[in-house]
Amino acid sequence: MNILLIGSGGREHALAWALGASALCDRLFVAPGNPGTDQIARNVDLDAADHAAVVAFCRAEAIGLVVVGPEAPLVAGLADDLAAAGIKCFGPGKFAAQLEGSKGFTKDICATYAIPTAAYGRFHSRDEALSYLDAHGAPIVIKADGLAAGKGVTVAMDMATARAAVEEIFSGKFGGAECVIEEFLEGEEASFFVLTDGRNALALATAQDHKRAGDGDTGPNTGGMGAYSPAPCMTPALCDEALEKIVKPTIRALQDMGHPYVGVLYAGLILTGEGPKLIEYNCRFGDPECQVLMMRLKDDLVTLLLACCDGTLDRVSARWLDDVALSVVMCARGYPGEALKGTEIRGLEGAAAMEGVEIFHAGTAARHGMIVANGGRVLNVTARGKTVKEARDRAYAAVDRIDWPEGFCRRDIGWRAIARENQE
Ligand code: AMP
Ligand code: GLY
Repeated sequence: MNILLIGSGGREHALAWALGASALCDRLFVAPGNPGTDQIARNVDLDAADHAAVVAFCRAEAIGLVVVGPEAPLVAGLADDLAAAGIKCFGPGKFAAQLEGSKGFTKDICATYAIPTAAYGRFHSRDEALSYLDAHGAPIVIKADGLAAGKGVTVAMDMATARAAVEEIFSGKFGGAECVIEEFLEGEEASFFVLTDGRNALALATAQDHKRAGDGDTGPNTGGMGAYSPAPCMTPALCDEALEKIVKPTIRALQDMGHPYVGVLYAGLILTGEGPKLIEYNCRFGDPECQVLMMRLKDDLVTLLLACCDGTLDRVSARWLDDVALSVVMCARGYPGEALKGTEIRGLEGAAAMEGVEIFHAGTAARHGMIVANGGRVLNVTARGKTVKEARDRAYAAVDRIDWPEGFCRRDIGWRAIARENQE
C-alpha cells in the first residue's frame, strides 16, 4: 500500500521510520517532510491546508492510507475531506479534533461524563474571568482557548501573574477571546497514548516530556525539550485507571455525539493524591514523545493505524520493548524565542551510527550538501538502553559527537526517572 504522511517535524521523521519499516508499506510519501524523511521516503511539496490538492495527490499516487502528524490539519478538517473522497485517514475529523482545539469543549465533556480533571470555569468576558480569579485565589491556571502551540497556558503562583494572563488573552494575543481558568493540580505529569477506532481503545505506552527550556525544569515553556518512555510513575494500575476513567468515557462521549474519534488520543495527566486527572488532550502523537514510542514499538505500525481506520482495533495488539527510549531535543540558540537559522550542523552520521541511537530531524534544511538549522527544535537525538541512565548516557554521547556550536540542549533529560532508579 502507498502511504502519505503529513508533517515535517521530528515526530514525522520517527513515524516515517516506523511506517517505512512495515512490510505493508510500498511507497511512502511525506508532505512536506524534512531532510531526515528525505533519506527514507519521498518528500513532496504539498500544502496540507489545500485539501483538494491532497485528495488529488492521493488519487494520482493511489494512496491507501494518509497519516496526519500535526494537529492543525485535523482541526482544519483534512480527515473529513479525505473521508468524503473515500480515502482512509488516520486522525480524527474536525469535530472530534476539538478535544485538542478547544479546551472548553474537552472540559465540558469531562463535566458530563464525570472524567477526573481540574475544577474550572469558562469565560468569554474579561470581567467575569477576573472576578472568578478573585473568588478562587492563587495558585491557579489560566488557559487561552484554541490552539496556541502549548504557549497559551499560565500556571500562576500569584494573583498579579494570574491577572496579567487574563488581560493578555482578552487583548486577543492568541486569536480568540475565550479562556478557561482552572484549579492548580499538584503531582507528577505523564503522557498516556491510546489508539482508538471510535469504539475500541488500545493503550499504547506512556512517556514523560520536559516542557521547560532550562535544566532543572526552569525557564519558559517550549514544545518539549526531551522525553523518555516508559514513564515509571505510570504503573500498570494507573494506566488501567486512566484508561477506564478518562480515555474510554471520552471515546464514548464522541461516539454519543455522533462523531467517533479515529486516531491517537494523547492524554496529558497529572498524578494527584486522588489518582490521575486529565490536564489536556492532544489529537496527535506528542513531539518528542512519538520518537521514544516508535523506538520501543515491536509491532507493525501500519497494521495498528489501519485497524483504527477499519474499526478492527479489537483484533490487534501492540507490544513494546522492555528497553527505555530517551530523546534529547537539540535546539537553535534563541529558542523558544526567535531561533537562529542557517547555521551548519556537522557530525550527524557519526552520531547516528552509535549503538542504539537514532537521530530524527525536525527543523533542519539541506543546503548545498550541508544540513543547516531551519527552526527552533532542530534534532531529536534518541537512544535505547536497559535503564533510563543507559539510554540517557547513549543519547548524550551522541549529542556530544554532533558539531553544532550554535545549538543547545538540556543536559538533564530523564532526571526524574534517574532519581527514581537511583533510589531502587
Ligand atoms: P496544557 O497546554 O494544558 O498541557 O498545559 C501546559 C502545562 O501547564 C502542563 O503541562 C502543566 O505543566 C501545566 N498545567 C496545566 N494545567 C494545570 C493544572 N490544572 N494544574 C497544574 N499545572 C497545570
Ligand atoms: N511534547 C508535547 C506535545 O507534543 O504537545
